[in-house]
Amino acid sequence: MLFPDYRPRRLRQSESLRRMIRETTLAADDLILPLFVIEGKGVKNPIPSMPGHYQLSIDNLIDVAKHACGLGIPAVMLFGIPDRKDSLATRAYAKDGIVQKATKELKETLDKLIVITDVCLCQYTDHGHCGVLQGQTVDNDATLDLLAKTALSHARAGADMVAPSDMMDGRVAEIRETLDENGFSNTAIMSYAAKYCSSYYGPFRSAAETAAKFGDRKTYQMDPANALEAIREVTLDIEEGADIIIVKPALAYLDIIYRIREEILLPIAAYNVSGEFAMIKAADKMGWLDGHKVMMETLTAIKRAGADMILTYFALEAAETLRKICSE
Ligand code: PBG
Ligand code: ZN
Repeated sequence: MLFPDYRPRRLRQSESLRRMIRETTLAADDLILPLFVIEGKGVKNPIPSMPGHYQLSIDNLIDVAKHACGLGIPAVMLFGIPDRKDSLATRAYAKDGIVQKATKELKETLDKLIVITDVCLCQYTDHGHCGVLQGQTVDNDATLDLLAKTALSHARAGADMVAPSDMMDGRVAEIRETLDENGFSNTAIMSYAAKYCSSYYGPFRSAAETAAKFGDRKTYQMDPANALEAIREVTLDIEEGADIIIVKPALAYLDIIYRIREEILLPIAAYNVSGEFAMIKAADKMGWLDGHKVMMETLTAIKRAGADMILTYFALEAAETLRKICSE
């Protein structure tokens, strides 16, 4: 059917029609709010490149999490900023570590909230790399045990899901085995399976105080030029026992989300990372675009590409907007 018989504009004439025809919808259910937790009381350190985000002590973290729950956001992802760092990242798997304490308190206060914990060593190592060092290189196999210990300590604190973001080979299998052996067969693994070595992580690294002291993460995070490798990484993680797959970053990697959606049956989470957030906030502040509208368009596009859920620093703002739309 061709013009003038077929007129695509017929179905765009009113908001009601557009709503009826809409292929992708965003809901608060799809959103996961990343939060930074730090030792202390009453602490709320602003993160300059991430307006509206803070390093929060547990008391303030609980308040933000309550607000998120009230908006219908089902889950938070916790990143810890420890009181001290060392070469073996001991504060990553300490029983009284910051993430362990925060998880316990969150689950006690808000039992319906899903607590996902980021599992990595980079916030906890004095050199800032995601694993332990052998000379100047990150030792894969020596790191696995520490990652598994970290994941187990999070599970013991009550985490519903652990999310390894280190990109060591074999970590999902190691974590799954350790969790199962210790009676945590119901703790899920949300694996950062396709995590690229991206400069979009810049703001996060100052927020979580995790910049590497030397070198870069190119020997463990993926080359942005590769797509087939993402499928290989995802396939491995599924075989090792991942329950949910993360693609990260999101916006410059929508093709990866799409391709993985075609290949696998597991839920996919896309990580709309700190740099993607910062760019929109900065342009909005300059008056160069409408940050709010660009946010909604971006999140919708990430879902359209095939993501089932989105980790995003926009979670609160987006959920507030979605609530208004519903009540209109
Ligand atoms: C740590 C980690 C990073 C992010 C999540 N977990 C940074 C990195 O790998 O350097 C990035 C999140 C963001 O930029 O929002 N392994
Ligand atoms: Zn890391």
